[in-house]
Amino acid sequence: MKTVTLSTLQASKRAGEPFSCLTAYDASFARAAGEAGVEVLLVGDSLGMVLQGHASTLPVTLDDICYHTRCVARGKGASLLMVDLPFMSNSSTERLLQDAGELMRAGAELVKVEGDAWMAEGIRELTRRGVPVCAHLGLTPQSVHRLGGYKVQGREAEHAARILEDARALVAAGASVILLECVPASLGRAVSEALDVPVIGIGAGPDTDGQILVMHDVLGVTHGRTPRFVKNFLAEADDIQGAFRRYHEDVKARRFPAEEHCF
Ligand code: KIV
Ligand code: NA
Repeated sequence: MKTVTLSTLQASKRAGEPFSCLTAYDASFARAAGEAGVEVLLVGDSLGMVLQGHASTLPVTLDDICYHTRCVARGKGASLLMVDLPFMSNSSTERLLQDAGELMRAGAELVKVEGDAWMAEGIRELTRRGVPVCAHLGLTPQSVHRLGGYKVQGREAEHAARILEDARALVAAGASVILLECVPASLGRAVSEALDVPVIGIGAGPDTDGQILVMHDVLGVTHGRTPRFVKNFLAEADDIQGAFRRYHEDVKARRFPAEEHCF
C-alpha cells in the first residue's frame, strides 16, 4: 500500500471507492491491520473500555493516548494515523491546541474531536496551525451521560437536519474529515453526499465514504451486549491477519455493513 494521506482519502471519495479504518492500540496489531490494507488507524479513546476495562471513555488521559500513539506509530506502516483527543481536551481552545500538539508529537497525523457546531473555533485554530481535524458527530461517547446512554442519534428529522448543519459548519471551519457514529443510514448517506470531505461511518449505514470499527469487535473479543453495527470477522477467517483482510475487502466491496448492521 502507498502511504495514505488526506489526499488519498479525498481521492477515494471522488472515485466512489470506500476506505477502511480500524482502531489500533499497539505496534503489532497496527502492523497487521496495515498489511491487510486498512487505510486509516485510529488510536481511539475506546482504549478506556477495551484495554482498561472502564465503562466509558471518560477516564482516559492524554498520557494514556500518547503512550498508545507512540506504540502504534512504530508499527503502522503506510496507514494514516488518526488519534482521539480525550474527554475535556476541548475545555478551552488553549488546552485543545496544547493537547493536539502532544498527540502530533507522539505521531498523530490527524486528530479527532467530539462536539458539534460549537467546536468550530477550536477546529479553525487547529487547522490554521497545520493540525488536520476529524470532527466526530452523532453519538459522541464522551457525552454518554448527557445523552442518557449509547443511543442512535438523528432519528427525528429535525435532529438529523441539525447534525447535517453541524457537519457543514465544522467543514467550513476547516475540518478535513467527518466521522458519524450511530445514525440512520439515510443520514449517513445525506451527510456524505452533501460534503466534499471524506465521511467515515460507524453504525452510519453503507453509503459513507469510509467505515470504521473497534479492533476488538472485528476479532470478536467483546463482552456484554454487542452493538448492532458490529461484526466478528474472525469467525469467517483462519487468523487475525485474515480477519483484518476480510474486513478491509468487505468494506471495499461494500459488502460491509450489510442491512442487519444499519439503523
Ligand atoms: O474511540 C474510538 O474507538 C472511536 C471509534 C469508535 C470511532 O472513536
Ligand atoms: Na473515540
